Amino acid sequence: MLATAGVIFFIAVCAIVVGGAIYRRQSSKCRSTRRLKGKTIIVTGGSSGIGLATAEDLARRGARVILACRNAAKANQVAHGIRERTGNAEVQVRDLDTSDFDSVRKFAKEFKETEGRLDVLINNAGVGIPEKRLSKQGFELTLATNHYGHFLLTNLLVDVLRASAPSRVVTVSSLVHKYCSKADLEDLNFDKTPYAVFPAYALSKLCNILFTKEIARKLQGTGVVANCLHPGVVATGLLNKENTWLGALLTFLLGVIGKSRDDGAQTSIYLAVAEEAQHMSGKYFVDCKESSCCKLAEDEGLAKKLWEVSERDVKLQPGEIFY
Ligand SMILES: NC(=O)c1ccc[n+]([C@@H]2O[C@H](COP(=O)([O-])OP(=O)(O)OC[C@H]3O[C@@H](n4cnc5c(N)ncnc54)[C@H](OP(=O)(O)O)[C@@H]3O)[C@@H](O)[C@H]2O)c1
Repeated sequence: MLATAGVIFFIAVCAIVVGGAIYRRQSSKCRSTRRLKGKTIIVTGGSSGIGLATAEDLARRGARVILACRNAAKANQVAHGIRERTGNAEVQVRDLDTSDFDSVRKFAKEFKETEGRLDVLINNAGVGIPEKRLSKQGFELTLATNHYGHFLLTNLLVDVLRASAPSRVVTVSSLVHKYCSKADLEDLNFDKTPYAVFPAYALSKLCNILFTKEIARKLQGTGVVANCLHPGVVATGLLNKENTWLGALLTFLLGVIGKSRDDGAQTSIYLAVAEEAQHMSGKYFVDCKESSCCKLAEDEGLAKKLWEVSERDVKLQPGEIFY
């Protein structure tokens, strides 16, 4: 009995290791060699994981890169490292907590007061909160961080993006959006449905796609394009922000099967730099190629409704709408 269990365990470990190796080999690279001197790019959550790797690549291409982060000490250290490794002094840190609408408004105001242009906004920051928690303004924290904050941030920066056109919005979603079987826009806060991290995270990633499709429609003809992506399964600390045993186990598994963060950043980089990506909008990408998202994510009516609900919840003011 024990021997059988041992054999099954051994086969499972081998399958995970071999499967991971095959998966990593299939990862696509952004082939563009485009330089970005004179371009300004914001990367939210640029202080770790996929965001860090994205920011570093863009800095290496000569862009002015703003790491928009909630932990200034950590982000400053990261920015210092990127400046040293790339020789690009134009890597800056600005405070941004995407879950807090006051912080988002402050960031956008200061950015507009001090920066002349914005060529690419990369909405990358993300979390999956293990138990239900509320943001400063009283919204479920996973959705507030992943969707509402980026919804508000992008809206507040649309005027700069339009003035800097051709320009781009890139939003990091996830394949996990496909596991969202319904989107109850009347219960985004999980007041009626019992909270669990996986459905909440999946919902937030579905919202990332619906948001991208709707803003792409609104920005049609302005020279600002908006696309979103799944980065792949990537070995980052995303699943263990709270230091739980389950988080540690999942992070270990991500480490075994996942891509490196440099490989995980490739589709974000592709959408930010590739010439052809300036001519596509409202699309979902995987491995630097357009891909299909789930039916719910293609629902135009749902996207419009989410937009209205989000506008209401972040309290978007008439002076903050630039369409
Ligand atoms: N890793 C994967 O397999 C995978 C798969 C699909 C999609 N994604 C998506 O990829 C994106 C990047 O995740 P990752 O894997 O690179 O994880 P990560 O290493 O944990 O990076 C997430 C980043 O978001 C930042 N962040 C979290 N909450 C924030 C807030 N309220 N305000 C500002 N920044 C905040 C984090 O800051 P701190 O450093 O301060 O925590 C961190 O820099 C996320 O949107 C995630 O949903 C990841």
